[in-house]
Amino acid sequence: MKKTLFLALLMLSSQMAEAKQVTVQTKNMTMVLNVDEGKQPQYVYFGAKLSDYDLAHLQAPRGGRMDAYPAYGMDCPAEAALAMRHADGSLATELVATGVEQQDGVTRIHLKDTVYPVTVDLCYKGYQDVDMIETWTEIRNGEAKPVTLTQFASCCLPIRRGNVWISSFYGSWGNEGILCEEPLTPGEKIIKNKDGVRNAHTSRGEVMFSLDGKGQENSGDVIGAAICYSGNYLLKVETDDSDYHYFFAGINPDNSEYHLRKGETFVTPKIALSFSKAGLSGVSRNFHKWGREYMLAHGNKERKVLLNSWEGVYFDINQQGMDQMMGDIASMGGELFVMDDGWFGDKYPRKTDNSSLGDWVVDRNKLPEGIEGLLRDAKKHGIKFGIWIEPEMANTVSELYEAHPDWIIKAPKREPVQGRGGTQVVLDMSNPKVQDYVFSIVDNLMTKYPEIDYIKWDANMSVMNHGSQYLTMNDQSHLYIEYHRGFQKTCQRIRAKYPDLTIQACASGGGRANWGVLPYFDEFWVSDNTDALQRIYMQWGTSYFFPAIAMAAHISATPNHTVQRTTSIKYRIDVAMSGRLGMEIQPKNMTDVEKEICREAIKEYKEVRPIVQLGDIFRLVSPYDKKGIASLMYVNEEKTKSVFFWWKTESFQNEHLPRVKMAGLDAKKMYKVHELNRIDRFPMDIEGKVFSGEYLMNNGLEMPRSNNPKWASMRSDWSSRVLYLEAE
Ligand code: GLA
Repeated sequence: MKKTLFLALLMLSSQMAEAKQVTVQTKNMTMVLNVDEGKQPQYVYFGAKLSDYDLAHLQAPRGGRMDAYPAYGMDCPAEAALAMRHADGSLATELVATGVEQQDGVTRIHLKDTVYPVTVDLCYKGYQDVDMIETWTEIRNGEAKPVTLTQFASCCLPIRRGNVWISSFYGSWGNEGILCEEPLTPGEKIIKNKDGVRNAHTSRGEVMFSLDGKGQENSGDVIGAAICYSGNYLLKVETDDSDYHYFFAGINPDNSEYHLRKGETFVTPKIALSFSKAGLSGVSRNFHKWGREYMLAHGNKERKVLLNSWEGVYFDINQQGMDQMMGDIASMGGELFVMDDGWFGDKYPRKTDNSSLGDWVVDRNKLPEGIEGLLRDAKKHGIKFGIWIEPEMANTVSELYEAHPDWIIKAPKREPVQGRGGTQVVLDMSNPKVQDYVFSIVDNLMTKYPEIDYIKWDANMSVMNHGSQYLTMNDQSHLYIEYHRGFQKTCQRIRAKYPDLTIQACASGGGRANWGVLPYFDEFWVSDNTDALQRIYMQWGTSYFFPAIAMAAHISATPNHTVQRTTSIKYRIDVAMSGRLGMEIQPKNMTDVEKEICREAIKEYKEVRPIVQLGDIFRLVSPYDKKGIASLMYVNEEKTKSVFFWWKTESFQNEHLPRVKMAGLDAKKMYKVHELNRIDRFPMDIEGKVFSGEYLMNNGLEMPRSNNPKWASMRSDWSSRVLYLEAE
C-alpha cells in the first residue's frame, strides 16, 4: 500500500567487521547508533541534522544507558524492551550485535542472544523528504521449542533529561483527543490501551517530547512518536536516577504473552519518530506530510463534501427520506451522501441498536427499491452514494449469530458479555473464516453495487470478555494480537480489490485515529460529539498527529444533540471547515437562510480545500491556554495562499482577547485579506487590504470581539472568523 521511498543514508564502511557508526538521516534529522560486534548497540544521537564534520566528532553520551534494545535478565533493575521465557525456563536474555545490513531502504542491526539461538533485528527506515524514521524489531526463535515473549516493545529511545515536557492525549466517548501537557518527572508515565478492538478513544498512541520546557507551537526542539498499530499498545517513559528518560513503545503485553514457535519471527509494529526545531506544529507538519504521502489511503486526493444521515434521522431510514436528504445536500453543493445505520436486517430488521449487526441485507420494508433505488436517486441528484457497515460485529439477535455462535469472542465456558443495545458482540477476527466473512461484507456490496463510492466502517464495542473459540486453550493469550493480524489482513484484501473506494474509520467516534489503521482508510470520524466548541478542543489535539484531510468534521443541528449547546450556524461551519468538511443534520429542518449560508460556505470551502486538506498547519493560540480564543492556520507549500481560523472559546463583556500573530507565511510576500463565510452586515476593516507577511507574523490582525450579523436571528455569543490570504 505504501509507496516505498527510502532515503536514509547509511554511513558504513563496506566491511561489516569495521562497522561502527550507523547513521539514519533525513532532510533535517539525524539518528546515530554505535554498533560494536559482541556488544549491545548504543544510541549516540537523535536530533537536528548533523554536518559531516559534527558527525565525525560526536561526543559519546554519558550519564545514562544508551542501549538500543535492552533485554531483561542481565541488568534486572533496568527497564527492558524485551523479556522472554526461553524454552528451558530461563528468564535471562542478553543481546549483542552481530552486524549491520542495508536492504530495500531498511537499515538492520542484527542482534543475537549470547547463549540461546534467539535473534533480533532492529530495523530503521528513514523518509528523507518528510523527516520521519520508522523503527521496529523482528524477533526470531531458533530454539527447539517455543519461547514465550512477555515484553516485546518496538523500540527504546533514551531522551536526555533537562526540562522535558510530554504532550499526550486522553479522552472518552464524545471527548476524544484531549491534549495533556506536563513535565516529565521521576517515576513512570504510562499511556496505554486495552480496548482490544479500537485504540484511540481513551489514551492515544502518540506523544511529543518538548526538549526546551513547555512545548511552543512554532519554536523549540520537539520529538514526536506514534505507534502504527490498530490494537492494544503501551507507551512508557521511565525516569530513574540516571540522566535520561527512557521511552518504550510497542504492543501492550498485558494478558498477551506470545508463544513464539521454532523458526517463527515476531514483527513488532512500527514506531514513527520525527524531530523538529520548529516546535510542536513543526512535528505535526512532518507527521501530516509523511501521513499523506506514505500512510493514509489517497492522502493527496481532495475529499468530497458529504451529508451523513445519522444525526438527521438516526435509525429512521426510508427511501423518500434518503431521496430528500440527497436532493438537499446536492442543492447546497455537496458531492456525496452517506446513509448511516438502520438500513439492514431481514428476519431481524434494525429498528434500534439491539439487533441485526451481521445481517447485511437491505430491510425491504424501509427501502423497497433497495440500494439500487438509492443509487438511482443519487445519480439523479448528481452526487455519489456511501453506506454504513459495522463488519467486525454481530448482535446475538441476528441470523448471523444463529448460524455461527462460535464466531464471537467470549470467555471459555462462560456466557458472552453483550455490549451496545444489550446484545452486541465482537466477531473473532483471529478466525480465518471470520476474516473471509468480513471481507465478503464489503465484497458483496461492491460486487452488487460497484457505484458505491464510500463506506463508513464502524466498530462500537471493545473486547469485553477474553476468549477465542478459534485459538487453542494454550494460545488464548494470543487473542488481542491475532485479532489485529486478522483485521489487518482483511483490510489488505479489501484494499487490494477496491483500491479506489473511500473508507472512513469510525469507532463510536474517534476510536480509530491511529496510523496503524489509516493505511487502509481515507479518514476517521473525530468524535460522535459534533458540538462546535468542544470540537475545537478535540480537533486541536487530534491535529497534533493527523492532517485535516483525515479529520471528518460535520456541521450539525443546534441545540447540539450531545451537549445541548446552541451555537450559530456560522460558528459550526467555521469549526467544521478546518477539517474535512461535511454535514450531519436534517436539512429539512434548516431555515432557508441557514441553507443559503451553508451553500455559500461549501462553495468557499471547495476553493480553499487544497490549502486546508493538503497544506501545512501552524497552530497559533491553543484553546487549552484559556485565552478566550483558539486560532490556527493552513498555508500552501508555496506560501502563496493561506486560510486563517479564529474561534472564540468563551464570551464576556469587555473581555481582553489576544491579538494573534500569524506563522508560516513568507515575510517578503504581500497578502490580500478576504473574509470567508461572512455573515456580518459590514465588511471587516481589513477586507481587501494588503499586508506584508512580515507584518502579519510580527504583529497579526485585530479581530472584532463579536460578529455583527445581517440577520438578528444569527446573533450569538459564539463568534468566529475565517480569513483567506492570497499573495499578490
Ligand atoms: C456510532 C458512530 C455514529 C453512528 C452510530 C450508528 O456511534 O460513531 O457515527 O454511525 O454508531 O449506530
